[in-house]
Amino acid sequence: MCGIVGYTGRDNATPILMEGLDTLAYRGYDSAGIAVWNGEDIVMKKEKGQLSNLKAILDREPVTGSCGIGHTRWATHGEPSYINSHPHGDTKKQLVLVHNGIIENYVRLKNMLVERGCKFVSDTDTEVVAQLLGEVYEGDPLAAITNAIRLLEGSFALAILFRDDPTRIYCVCKDSPMVVGFGKDGAHIASDIPALLSYTRDVTFMGDKQIAVLSPVGIAFYDEFGTPIDKGCTHIDWDLDAAKKGSYEHYMMKEICEEPVAFRKTAEQYVSFREQPKLKADCFPWSDEDAKTVKRIRIIGCGTAYHAGLLGKKYFQELAKIPVEAEIASEFRYSDYVFEEGEVLFLISQSGETADTIAALRMAKQAGIRTVAVCNVIGSTIAREADEVLFTFAGPEIAVAATKSYLTQVTVLFLTAMRLGLIRGTVSEERAASLLSELADIPQKMQRLIDERGEIQYFASREFSARHVFFIGRGIDNALSMEAALKLKEVSYIHSEAYAAGELKHGTIALIEEGTLVVGILTQRKLAAKTASNLEEVRVRGANVLALTNGELPDIASHCSKVWKFEETNELLAPFLAIIPMQLFAYYMAVQKGCNVDKPRNLAKSVTVE
Ligand code: G6P
Repeated sequence: MCGIVGYTGRDNATPILMEGLDTLAYRGYDSAGIAVWNGEDIVMKKEKGQLSNLKAILDREPVTGSCGIGHTRWATHGEPSYINSHPHGDTKKQLVLVHNGIIENYVRLKNMLVERGCKFVSDTDTEVVAQLLGEVYEGDPLAAITNAIRLLEGSFALAILFRDDPTRIYCVCKDSPMVVGFGKDGAHIASDIPALLSYTRDVTFMGDKQIAVLSPVGIAFYDEFGTPIDKGCTHIDWDLDAAKKGSYEHYMMKEICEEPVAFRKTAEQYVSFREQPKLKADCFPWSDEDAKTVKRIRIIGCGTAYHAGLLGKKYFQELAKIPVEAEIASEFRYSDYVFEEGEVLFLISQSGETADTIAALRMAKQAGIRTVAVCNVIGSTIAREADEVLFTFAGPEIAVAATKSYLTQVTVLFLTAMRLGLIRGTVSEERAASLLSELADIPQKMQRLIDERGEIQYFASREFSARHVFFIGRGIDNALSMEAALKLKEVSYIHSEAYAAGELKHGTIALIEEGTLVVGILTQRKLAAKTASNLEEVRVRGANVLALTNGELPDIASHCSKVWKFEETNELLAPFLAIIPMQLFAYYMAVQKGCNVDKPRNLAKSVTVE
């Protein structure tokens, strides 16, 4: 959500800023802008819509300079428009800035600033920050920032250019991510790591209210009072190509195709596959003693991460016999929940920067509850603040629709449940060994599914005009259905809903009419016959039925117009395979409809505001 980039150094800033904004485009945006010091003045260019619109302006009216900031805006306050695009400046024309986040007390501040003579030109909360900084600025940028941020409520990541000091970029953030790094030709700032990878792998994550001052020769850090501080670097070993599209038409397809590798890399962190596969006990946060004190687990996440949590719930209950609840972070944070002793809060997040998940984490920490993050980004806020982190090794995920991150989150949750089960005696060594040796075969099975994707593409080419699609299943398959329905609606804009198969008759079956597509997910043998009956109930009412099955299921074909089966696999491992055709189905439906697959309308990859 909003992307910030900045560069100061020996090179021309404009192409660096534009490339950075392009890399961050996956975060979601509806306008873009840059400000560059050209040696005489700070020149701003901005435009509504795609980055190509801004690029067209820069082609006509080039801007060259060695220091600049850039921004992609996802509108929160004020419609997407030229006027509301960033950068924004102050009335006295002393500075310009770009902002990610929401200033919650902006109305109060705006009234105060208007009384003091500031002339506002936009509807944004961001301009309030620019005007406020302009009001408190007396020639010392650092002092102005430390004074201004005391008055701000809400979340912000700011990159600021002061006209008096135009080769430095001043940055500060709170509850909104920013990462800085020094490349061989200058200093860079960005909202997310992929935008820095072409210049450096050693990056520094900004902490709350910390200030970074980027100059062509280095980066200095200060605390919120302006006192210099030391900050270390984190080495990012993501492959640079991993953040590029390569020969794929879309990131989403590339990331689905990366799933066998992402799965293997993640599993190998937690399992030794030499000879007899075995969990690496020291990679999990529990000693034998304290695993026994876990009384309840609560899993929190948003979107796809929440859906991974729903599968995690099944795994913890089945393997570790622990009571579990999975909840959406934005609901949980305002639920007045009373934590119990012995409870562990799992936070699931690809980015580690989702505002609501961070809030849930902080609630638990305040209550003294143990927190464990399942996270893909080293150095992110959630990874830094949780008591323990179980990393996923999905590599950078650029498509807005999460695919490989979901798969790796589910992998980590499954292995963690097994580890707890082993310690608590609810999983035998034999069962664990058998599950792990089947797990070792999953990447090849996934690969075969991906290789056979032509069938899914063909099916999508016939079904893409569907207006409503229902996904049904029971137990694990219900959890999978929820992710399958989300994937389809977010990339293809087709109304899709997941329904517990047994619940259909209590209302939703009224929506079934001639030709409605219903997808049944049947990976759990003991429940398959029941879901098959539910498929029959919709088939006889005119639905077009597709079933996804774990191996061959007797009698299923008579209830469906189409069956996709994957190689028979242990039921607990079936989600690792079942999700792939569902992701591919969503992808091909979106492609057929001509949708913007990687950047669906209105969506953002990283939801850093409430
Ligand atoms: C957004 C993204 C989803 C993601 C969710 C949670 O909605 O579009 O793909 O699942 O945020 O993000 P997180 O980074 O916390 O996993």
